[in-house]
Amino acid sequence: MATWRPPERIRHDAVPGRWPSAAEAAASRLFSPVRVGPLQLPARTWVPAMVPWRATEEGFVTPAVLDWYRRFAAGEPAVIVVEATGIRDVPSGPLLRIGHDRFLPGLERLTQVVREASGGRTRLLIQLIDFLAIKRRPEPEKFFGRHLVISARHRAYLGMPGADEAAVRARLLGLPPAALQEALDARELEALRMGYRERVTDLELEHVRALPQTLPPLFAQAARRARAAGFDGVELHYAHAYTMASFLSATNTRADGYGGEPAQRVRLPLEVFAAVRAALGGDYPVGCRMLADECIAGGTDTATAAGFACAFARAGMDFISLSRGGKLDDAMQPKVGEAAYPYTGRSGYECMPSYYSDRQGFLGRNLPASAAIRAALRAAGLATPIVAGGGIHNFEQAEEVLARQQADLVSLARQALADPDWFRKVRQGQGGAVRLCKYTNYCEALDQRHREVTCELWDREDVGAPGVALAADGKRRLVAPPWEADSK
Ligand SMILES: Cc1cc2nc3c(=O)[nH]c(=O)nc-3n(C[C@H](O)[C@H](O)[C@H](O)COP(=O)(O)O)c2cc1C
Ligand code: SF4
Repeated sequence: MATWRPPERIRHDAVPGRWPSAAEAAASRLFSPVRVGPLQLPARTWVPAMVPWRATEEGFVTPAVLDWYRRFAAGEPAVIVVEATGIRDVPSGPLLRIGHDRFLPGLERLTQVVREASGGRTRLLIQLIDFLAIKRRPEPEKFFGRHLVISARHRAYLGMPGADEAAVRARLLGLPPAALQEALDARELEALRMGYRERVTDLELEHVRALPQTLPPLFAQAARRARAAGFDGVELHYAHAYTMASFLSATNTRADGYGGEPAQRVRLPLEVFAAVRAALGGDYPVGCRMLADECIAGGTDTATAAGFACAFARAGMDFISLSRGGKLDDAMQPKVGEAAYPYTGRSGYECMPSYYSDRQGFLGRNLPASAAIRAALRAAGLATPIVAGGGIHNFEQAEEVLARQQADLVSLARQALADPDWFRKVRQGQGGAVRLCKYTNYCEALDQRHREVTCELWDREDVGAPGVALAADGKRRLVAPPWEADSK
């Protein structure tokens, strides 16, 4: 699928900076303790959620899921957030799921594996997600032959008031693009060009209208299962293109008290949190991931997002992890037979920027917004820790984020994928051994196609060695090789 890129196409390279000695690391901000609600963490290092597409088609934990998180845990970050995990008991493809008790044994095993592999030094959270339906872009023949509901509007446009429906469908199929623009309404055009997708504003759909009633108990039950499985906390997914972010979005015009002004848009996210808190009690860590900026035309800006963050903090969230963009509103047109993907437009670029960029580059695009949100919390007397990052790959950058009070914890996603041992290497004064992410987004391209996510810097290494598990294509190893210092 095509992906939007900044027109400047300025190439940026990751830089190692100066790595600390073990003593310097021990005295650093990054490796200093921090409290996240009831959790006392030994360091401010955070691996945010990344979907690796390792679950079964039914959403169960597999040995490959266990291997994936075992490998991250061996690097001993203070926190790992397990990938976006579906809260409903509905088929969702190979997305991890937590919508029923039958998923518990696998999830329990996952929490045990991470505890063992990190020697108890890594806390494991899980990201809970809900999303609405999105369909593949249809063949025009299928769309006009079956999907499109023929209305009086279509008949009037074609001047075929009493014609047989099949004749209307055939005429529409034969129209040139400019005429289609007039014959179809905006949603029909979108369904044809991008594939149909539900929106939180589709109040004519009963299940969408009922989301304020259905979602709080669904999130609460999922969160209860997370605690039962041994997770150290939950992260409510309020970011990117998914249901809860769509409620917060400036595009949410619901007229039922859950859309329009920011105070109404934040209502359901607060009610979901209240249900989760009530289910788990006050001593269990619950936070959310939300957008510091939607990065779409007319989208929620940082000032409004700061208001949301203050509302969440006041309600008692234990942390707020910030991302940006990643919306479907500006996604690129998918090929026929494929679904639109939220990380392909400009807002998607803001979420996961790559090495061909504008002047700013991939590093720190969300940090000014994160700093503003953190400052707004502190000005309101709220001490809730902020997790932020984006393009962070060396120690000096992470230290600077903390020194400049842009965040309280620093997240490394792709850098942790490129080298899961980053945290341990840097802490032990062996930063020189870090394998730096190149921000090529090879991993993200695999994610888009729902193929097992790996990193191009290590996935062809020692693929024939005994015991090395390979991807379905038989060519790529599924986890990073062990750190050599460990195997000596
Ligand atoms: C393969 C892949 C999968 C991702 N899956 C998720 C996800 O499940 N939930 C989420 O909130 N963010 C997800 N992200 C976004 C990352 O958590 C992170 O916000 C983004 O990569 C920017 O951080 P970085 O520059 O440190 O990589 C994913 C990123 C990648 C590369
Ligand atoms: S494939 Fe590896 S090097 Fe490329 S962006 Fe992903 S993690 Fe970084």
